Amino acid sequence: MTRPIRPSVLRAGAVALAAVFATATPAPAQPDPETIVNAFEAALGPIRTHRPSHPKGVCAAGHFTATPDGTRLSVAPVFSGQRNNAIIRFGVAGANPNASDSARGTRGLSIRFESPTGDLFEMANISAPVFGADKPETLVNGLLSRANDPATGRPNPERAAAYAAYVAANPTVGNQGRYLAANNPPASFATTPYWGVNTFLFRGQDGQQRPARWVFEPRAGTERLTEAQMQSLGANFLADELRRRVGAGPVEFDMVLQFPGQGDDLLNPTVAWPADRPRTVVGRLTVTSVEAGAGGPCDPISFMILDQAPGIEMSDDPVLQARAAAYAVSLSRRTP
Ligand code: HEM
Repeated sequence: MTRPIRPSVLRAGAVALAAVFATATPAPAQPDPETIVNAFEAALGPIRTHRPSHPKGVCAAGHFTATPDGTRLSVAPVFSGQRNNAIIRFGVAGANPNASDSARGTRGLSIRFESPTGDLFEMANISAPVFGADKPETLVNGLLSRANDPATGRPNPERAAAYAAYVAANPTVGNQGRYLAANNPPASFATTPYWGVNTFLFRGQDGQQRPARWVFEPRAGTERLTEAQMQSLGANFLADELRRRVGAGPVEFDMVLQFPGQGDDLLNPTVAWPADRPRTVVGRLTVTSVEAGAGGPCDPISFMILDQAPGIEMSDDPVLQARAAAYAVSLSRRTP
């Protein structure tokens, strides 16, 4: 499914990026999708074939079925209680398609649900409970602080200093880095929780709308690499390990909704809600097959659909609001 972006819009984005570089001023509040993707390209190089984020990955397939609580809590077709087909992608964070599977960083679990009625719902989740940017402009400024200034061919020290000052003044931006430093990478794609991180609004059968975040909990339990394994296992073991594991039997995750308590921040994905908040298991994801090699049906999917399903609507979290259109722009640039 491709989502063409008008060339005039792309040109406008390029002009916006040029302006940002020329003045070395911070990114505008609420940067548009093209400005966001241009910042990825400025920092990481042109998007040609690979995703600019989590470019290393493996396609898998399976199904998802809501629990009765899931059906109660969301009127979305995916939560009807019937089995949905699932196109799945497990990924490794960063911008390098040859990133090491032993490296510190997040792993991804992305899912396209296809309901029996033909409705689609997509999501991309990470193996950390928080994101590394509190607002889209923080993400853009972080990327541009690493990008070469076209005028000098080197990173712009003023921009890097401005970003460092922002992080110092807004320490929650460092929460993801602290989590990843304190928790070794998963031993398997099947042995880590994957968090949705952003807040969504679930409309239940009773007509009530409830804010919630979700996490996919591995039924195999959480298992992390030891320091010795991080040295010995090498760069490419995760996809083969998953193939062997799924060959021996399905890999399962419980989808769990977490509900906020008094004072919890619904709009800032760099801050996790306390662990004692109410939780409800709303569904089971079952992975039944893994592609034998690279590529497959997950490749042409961006895993962040523009049309959100009724019953699972976006909150006003500005990071979430910025995602879908930026993913569509990225997809259009990497789709021949
Ligand atoms: C302002 C916020 C964000 C922006 C601009 C952004 C941007 C992007 C872009 C452009 C892609 C590549 C899409 C493609 O070419 O298919 C991507 C992929 C991805 N993002 Fe984000 N992202 C944001 C926030 C997040 C958050 C909060 C999460 C955590 C849940 C996340 C997790 C992922 C994952 C897992 C992928 C890889 C998806 C796959 O397997 O294909 N992103 N992001």
